[in-house]
Amino acid sequence: SDPLDRFEKVDHPVPLLSLGNAFDGDELRAWVERAVKGLEAVLDDGAQPALALELKIDGLAVALTYQQGVLVRAATRGNGVTGEDVTTNVRTIRGIPLRLRGDVVPQSLEVRGEIYMRRSTFEALNERLVAEGSRPLANPRNGAVGSLRQLDSSITASRGLDFWAYGIGPTSAEAPETQTVTLNWLAALGLPVSEERRQLESVDAAVAYCEGWAARRDTLDFEIDGAVVKVDRLDYQQVLGQVSTAPRWAIAFKFPAREATTRLLDIEHNVGRTGVIKPLAVLEPVGVGGVTVSKATLHNADYILDRDIRIGDRVVIKRAGDVIPAVVGPVLDVRTGAERVYEPLTVCPVCGRALVRPEGEADLRHRDGGCPAQLRRSVEHFASRGAMDIEGMGKKIAALLVDEGLVEDLPDLYALDRDELLALDGFKERKVDNLLGGLAVSKARPLGRLLFGLGIRHVGETVATQIIAHFASLNELASADAEALEAIDGIGPIVAESVVAWFADDVNQQTVERLRQLGVNTTRLDSEAIAASGPATSAAAGKTFVLTGTLPTMSRPQAKAKIEAAGGKVTGSVSKKTDYLVAGEAAGSKLVRAEELGVPVLTEDVLEALLSQAPDTAATEMAEETGEQGDLFAA
Ligand code: IVH
Repeated sequence: SDPLDRFEKVDHPVPLLSLGNAFDGDELRAWVERAVKGLEAVLDDGAQPALALELKIDGLAVALTYQQGVLVRAATRGNGVTGEDVTTNVRTIRGIPLRLRGDVVPQSLEVRGEIYMRRSTFEALNERLVAEGSRPLANPRNGAVGSLRQLDSSITASRGLDFWAYGIGPTSAEAPETQTVTLNWLAALGLPVSEERRQLESVDAAVAYCEGWAARRDTLDFEIDGAVVKVDRLDYQQVLGQVSTAPRWAIAFKFPAREATTRLLDIEHNVGRTGVIKPLAVLEPVGVGGVTVSKATLHNADYILDRDIRIGDRVVIKRAGDVIPAVVGPVLDVRTGAERVYEPLTVCPVCGRALVRPEGEADLRHRDGGCPAQLRRSVEHFASRGAMDIEGMGKKIAALLVDEGLVEDLPDLYALDRDELLALDGFKERKVDNLLGGLAVSKARPLGRLLFGLGIRHVGETVATQIIAHFASLNELASADAEALEAIDGIGPIVAESVVAWFADDVNQQTVERLRQLGVNTTRLDSEAIAASGPATSAAAGKTFVLTGTLPTMSRPQAKAKIEAAGGKVTGSVSKKTDYLVAGEAAGSKLVRAEELGVPVLTEDVLEALLSQAPDTAATEMAEETGEQGDLFAA
C-alpha cells in the first residue's frame, strides 16, 4: 500500500528535528563536554548544565496542534518539514486528549510526542491477525505505524495505540524555563508523559540512567531503543542551537539494535531429545546487538506459513534479552519471486520415520524413540552438568558414540568397552580412561539427577527434585499412579501423566532395569528426601528469591533446585514481593533494582547458611496454629 497519496500533506510551522547518537558512556560524556564548551559564555567555570533524561520510545513522532485547548490537527513527522495529516485517526487514540485540561489553557500549543503500541497490545493484535488469516506484524513499531495509517479510522481505534508527549513546538504561551517544567506542564494539561523521566545534575548519573535502562529495557511493556539526554534549560538550548537537522542540546543514547535483516539461506530441522522436530533458520551471518547470528529459531511450521516466510527471503531477525534469535518475518518489498515456499515435514529427515502432530500441539514429533538424532541429543542431555554430569563426555563424543553404533540406548553408556573405545579415531588411552572414569563416578549421582537425565517430557531439574523427594527409589516411582504424583505440591496433571506414560513403556522399563543392573544408583539419597518434609525445614521456606549473576560454585539451576527443595520460590524478576536477591559475579540490572527497592542481597555462602537454618520450633508451632507461616518465618 502506498500511503503517500492517501493523507493530506502538512507543512510543519517549525521543523521536527532528529537526534544525533551516542553509543556508549564515553560518547555521552564527550557530548556533555561539547555542550559545556558551547555554553562557556553563560556557565560559571567548572559548572555543568542540568540534564533532562527520558526514554526513547520506539514508535512514530507526531505533532498535535491545540487551538483554544481543542485538538485541531495531528500530523506525522514525515521528513521533519512536511508530514501527513492524520487528525481523524489520532482522535481515536484514547490517551490523546481531544480537549486540554485545566482552567488556563494556551490559545495555541503544538505538542510533540510519540505514538506507540504496547508490547501486550501488539501480541494480542498479532494473535488476532493470525486467527483471521492475516499476516502478523513484525514489531510494535510497525504495529503503531500500520495502525495509524489506516484510511478507516475505526481500524485505528480498534488497535489500542498509546501516546507520550516529549516536547512542544510553537505556542502562544510563555515558554517554560526547562524541559522538566515543560513536561510537568503538559502532564497538567492532561497529556501523557513518561514516569521514567528524570532531571539529573551529573554526567555520571546520566550515564547510569542510560546504562541502567539498557539492561532493564525488557521490564517495560513497550519497546525503547535508547534514552534521550537533553540540556534542561530552554535558554541554554537556544544558546546551543543546532547543526543541520539535529540539535546540539540533545542526544540519543542508542541501545544495541536487536533487529537486523539478512538472507534466509535455508531451513534445517533440529531433532530434540524428546523427539520434537523444530525448524531452524540458516542465515547469512549478521551482527545483532553485539553478536553474530547465523542460526535462528522458526518455532514450527505454522509460524513459518502464517508469516509467509520463504527460503531465499530477506528476513527480519530479532534478539530479545538472552533469548535465542528468532526470525520475525520477511521483507516483502525486496522479494524477487525466486524464493521457495516452505513445505512442512511429514517424515524425519534423519531417520525417515513418519512424524505425528499431537492434537492441540504446534510441534511435529516422533511417535517413539529410535531416531539416531534424537538419541544423540538424549545421550548429550543424560551426560550434561545438571543431569549425570559425566566428565569427559561432551556433545561431540555423545554424537560419535551414537554414530559409531557403540551406544544404542542410555544403558549402553555403562557397558562401553575399553578396547572398542581405543579403536575410535583420536581416542588415546588418556581420553578413554577419562571417559570411563567419568562414567564410573556418575553411577553414584543422586536419584533426582538420574530422573532428570532420563529426558522424560516436562520433567526438568526442579520437577525431578520435587518428585524424588516423595519416592525412595526409581522402582517406587515406576509403580506410582498419576494421582500419587499430582498429590505432590507443584506437580500438575500434565507432568503426572507424562511420568506415568514414560514408566508404562516397555522399552523404558528395560532401560531402568538395565541401568540398575549396570550399577547406576536408583535409590534416593537421604539429602534428597528433605523437601518431602515440607517447607518448615528451612528459613528459606515461603520466601521468594531471584537469582542473578554467576555464583561461585552453584549453577543457577542448582541454586534454584536447592531453594525450591527448601520450600522457597524462585522468580525471574525483582519486585516488591521479592524477599531476597542472590547475586553472583557480573550481576546487572536485577542488582540495581534490588538496591532501589531495598531487597536484601545475599551471596552464595549466605544463601547456603539460610537454607540450612531451621526456623525455630516456637515459631513453627505458632505458625501452625495461626496458619501464617510466611510472615512468622521472616523473623
Ligand atoms: S526529542 C530535537 N524525546 O526519536 C528533539 N525524541 O531521533 C527531537 N523519540 O523523531 C526529539 N522518544 O520520534 C525526543 N523522549 C524523546 C523521544 C524522542 C522518542 C523519537 C522521536 C524523534 C526521534 C529522534
